[in-house]
Amino acid sequence: MNVKMVNIALAIVLALLTCAPCCIHSDDDRLLVSMTLVHDASALGAFCLDGSLPAYHLHRGFGAGEGNWLLQFEGGGWCNDIQLCLERAKTRRGSTRYMSKWEVFSGILSNNASLNPDFYNWNRVKLRYCDGASFAGDSKFDNGTSLLYFRGQKIWEAIIRDLLPKGLSTARKALLSGCSAGGLATFVHCDNFTSILPRNTNVKCLSDAGFFLDERDISLKRTMRTFFQNLVSLQVIFTREKCAWQGIEPNLDQKCTGSFDYPTLCFFPQYALEYITTPYFILNSAYDVYQFHHILVPPSADLRGYWNHCKLNAASCDANQIDVLQGFRRSMLVALSSFFTNSAGGGMFINSCFAHCQSESQDTWFAVDSPRIHNKTIAEAVGDWYYSRRVTKEIDCPYPCDSTCHNLIPSSQVQ
Ligand SMILES: *[C@@H]1O[C@H](CO)[C@@H](O)[C@H](O)[C@H]1NC(C)=O
Ligand SMILES: *[C@@H]1O[C@H](CO)[C@@H](O)[C@H](O)[C@H]1NC(C)=O
Ligand SMILES: *[C@@H]1O[C@H](CO)[C@@H](O)[C@H](O)[C@H]1NC(C)=O
Ligand SMILES: *[C@@H]1O[C@H](CO)[C@@H](O)[C@H](O)[C@H]1NC(C)=O
Repeated sequence: MNVKMVNIALAIVLALLTCAPCCIHSDDDRLLVSMTLVHDASALGAFCLDGSLPAYHLHRGFGAGEGNWLLQFEGGGWCNDIQLCLERAKTRRGSTRYMSKWEVFSGILSNNASLNPDFYNWNRVKLRYCDGASFAGDSKFDNGTSLLYFRGQKIWEAIIRDLLPKGLSTARKALLSGCSAGGLATFVHCDNFTSILPRNTNVKCLSDAGFFLDERDISLKRTMRTFFQNLVSLQVIFTREKCAWQGIEPNLDQKCTGSFDYPTLCFFPQYALEYITTPYFILNSAYDVYQFHHILVPPSADLRGYWNHCKLNAASCDANQIDVLQGFRRSMLVALSSFFTNSAGGGMFINSCFAHCQSESQDTWFAVDSPRIHNKTIAEAVGDWYYSRRVTKEIDCPYPCDSTCHNLIPSSQVQ
């Protein structure tokens, strides 16, 4: 442990000794919020992969924001075969037993008006991710020796049930958000979120780095489509009591699944989006690092590692590789073109930075040197859209024109 971690640990111990668990500021001014386990979840059969109870972190709103609610799905990839899910079940990605019991709330989750001007005083909730399938499944695997719960849909329902009596049921404003696999979860639950809340609640949804494209990789294989198909197939079971198939697919938009030969495609935001009626904001980098590394150039498509340097540092990509990346950006803009033109209540911020998830870290959300498009930060763009201050559909010029990018490849993306 370094000094900082010792200090945080000490601060946590002190907080536990001196006040009811809720939240504290560590000495470097970071807001730490404690975990709430959803005890009623077992009645709904809502469990993490390993059977542990699901959880969230809630920091209460105050002042003018007291009646407003921001729900943020945590991200963290997926597991799409039994072995990977069994491994995940023994980590923080598949079990609340192994999760940090305190989460840093920064960026869109910050409670400081000068760091998060439009949402700082809302009730802010981080929904912990432990089902391996973007909060979408409803089944389990049990072969007598191994047991896995695929209950993401139930976890969503259990957390909502827990929050409703805490004030969510009378929310005046609400925003359902999430990053990466959590950004994908917003597409699955956005309209359902609206239907749960009172009619006069102003409900909107935001996907951060969740717009995963149905795009071929550089060897022309549909790696991501296969990946999602395996994920959906993994979680399918037939239940004799209900005499029905259960899993992810029944929880996807039925108008969408009804209009495709391969209903699984509706797990891709680009197909689901047009059926969603709640106002949406799409925040994504056109060169999203996860998509670059797993959809466009997955290791299976680059066995010789020609892309290794380019993957770690865009400045070392050759002209050909930049062309391929520009092609990916064009595909993303094509997939968003009808949304861009037709969605009256929609907003977007498609920048050209090498990044993945830009709303939860302070330096990309709102800081003096944050990424900008037309001199507007992500926090300002999302705020302008949410509060209908002005139409906000920002598309950046192609790489390398944007000098506000940090282009820091997250270490979690380095393979
Ligand atoms: C809010 O953030 C600003 C900028 O980092 C800082 O100067 C200020 O002390 C913070 N306010 C509180 C109440 O933490
Ligand atoms: C159950 O599945 C696990 C993981 O695939 C496997 O290792 C184990 O042998 C299976 N047990 C039985 C009884 O089939
Ligand atoms: C929406 O969620 C509620 C519970 O939170 C559930 O009862 C209902 O079936 C869901 N509706 C749809 C269309 O998924
Ligand atoms: C960009 O916005 C900042 C405030 O966020 C302002 O101080 C600056 O003058 C603006 N720059 C331009 C070129 O408009």
